[in-house]
Amino acid sequence: MDPSDLASALADVESRYRARHPHSARRHASARSHLPGGNTHTVLHYSPFPLTFAAGRGNRLTDIDGLDYLDLLGEYSAGLYGHSNPVVQAALRQALDDGLALGGPNVYEARLAEAVCARFPSMNLVRFTNSGTEANLMALSIARARLPGRTRLMVFGGAYHGSVFQFRHGGAALNAPFDWLIGTYNDTEGTRAQLRSHGASLAAVIVEPMLGGGCIVGSAEFLAMLRDECTASGTVLIFDEVMTSRLSSAGRQGLLGIRPDMTTLGKYLGGGASFGAFGGRRDIMQRLDPAEPEAFSHAGTFNNNVLSMAGGLAGLTQVFSAAESSRINELGDRLRTRLNEMGAAHRMPFQATGAGSLIGLHFAGGIIQNGADIEPAGVKRQHAKALLEGLFHLEMIDRGYYLGRRGFISLSLPTTAADCEAFAAAVDQFLAIRGSLIPVDLADYGGR
Ligand SMILES: Cc1ncc(COP(=O)(O)O)c(C=O)c1O
Repeated sequence: MDPSDLASALADVESRYRARHPHSARRHASARSHLPGGNTHTVLHYSPFPLTFAAGRGNRLTDIDGLDYLDLLGEYSAGLYGHSNPVVQAALRQALDDGLALGGPNVYEARLAEAVCARFPSMNLVRFTNSGTEANLMALSIARARLPGRTRLMVFGGAYHGSVFQFRHGGAALNAPFDWLIGTYNDTEGTRAQLRSHGASLAAVIVEPMLGGGCIVGSAEFLAMLRDECTASGTVLIFDEVMTSRLSSAGRQGLLGIRPDMTTLGKYLGGGASFGAFGGRRDIMQRLDPAEPEAFSHAGTFNNNVLSMAGGLAGLTQVFSAAESSRINELGDRLRTRLNEMGAAHRMPFQATGAGSLIGLHFAGGIIQNGADIEPAGVKRQHAKALLEGLFHLEMIDRGYYLGRRGFISLSLPTTAADCEAFAAAVDQFLAIRGSLIPVDLADYGGR
């Protein structure tokens, strides 16, 4: 299909989008006066301008033009509890009523630490931060500081560990200036060889048990190999479970039975408020005990802010039970299967990846195993992919479904089977009506 057909289809949908969202358009235009690009979180930007939301209830969002959406984005997995869980809201209200910024330990933080450590047996001790980025910065810095002579860090192409740890296309201008060794995700033998030759100089290997960018699952074999090789070389293995901790009540590490040396967390574990955490083996984390003679200092004004601590504690101990975890992840598995069946039935390069409640949608026919597999080769194909993603995204918004521009979905607990079925029907219609616009040369992109 001629890419100009795709471009003109997108132009039509964009013009309808502009017409339906005049208030969002105006708010975005005025925001540009004081925020670069009208934006303070790059990932939330998409063209022609992002929707501005007025409110969220359960798993529904309302924009400032008064239109409603089924929220399938789930705040990139941080919105697990939905927008108005009564238990979480009550805990936040109580914390608010008791006063903010107390300037000392509060009644929540140790209880939240206990609940986190009970969920993740690899975490003997834990510390809180304000974001997942900060949690990873601390975990990596501790790994580098504890073993003299080991300053290199291993990471994988396509990984995202925070705003200064982006490894799509190999790296990013604003990345923290560490000495990185970049491996290929899911390449078990290639990575094993790298670890055997560089292990002695590596402070840590950091890995997402599933790449959040594209929802690409790490194979059990690959992750187990990392555990074995890090044990052999004395390298700290860090599982970044900022996104994947929701995949079971004990995260993806619980599903796989792998015990990393350190784990980082974030997102929903703050109950909807800013949150990050890092923790792990007692001997590593003990260095943060201020009473230790050579203690590492880890400060942070809002590390124990009462809203995150109280909301996080209520969510983890009263809402996100093992049963709820199974329910939402099974719902996601069923939706993924349904979407994949649909791609096959339409004979189109369309597939859903991911695990449990985290789903990545791709207009790609090949097998997706690492970050490179979701970047088609050549400027023309990359352009076609971007047009198609834009078309799909805005058409879904037009039909009342809100998800990430690049096809990211994370189901929140209020999501029902009927919600998933309605979304699947909308995707089915898209493939039926717009399928002829999908460039055939995207069929094989996705590697092997
Ligand atoms: C796997 C992973 N690590 C780290 C982060 C960074 O977390 P935050 O945005 O809270 O800094 C994210 C955020 O999307 C993530 O998905």
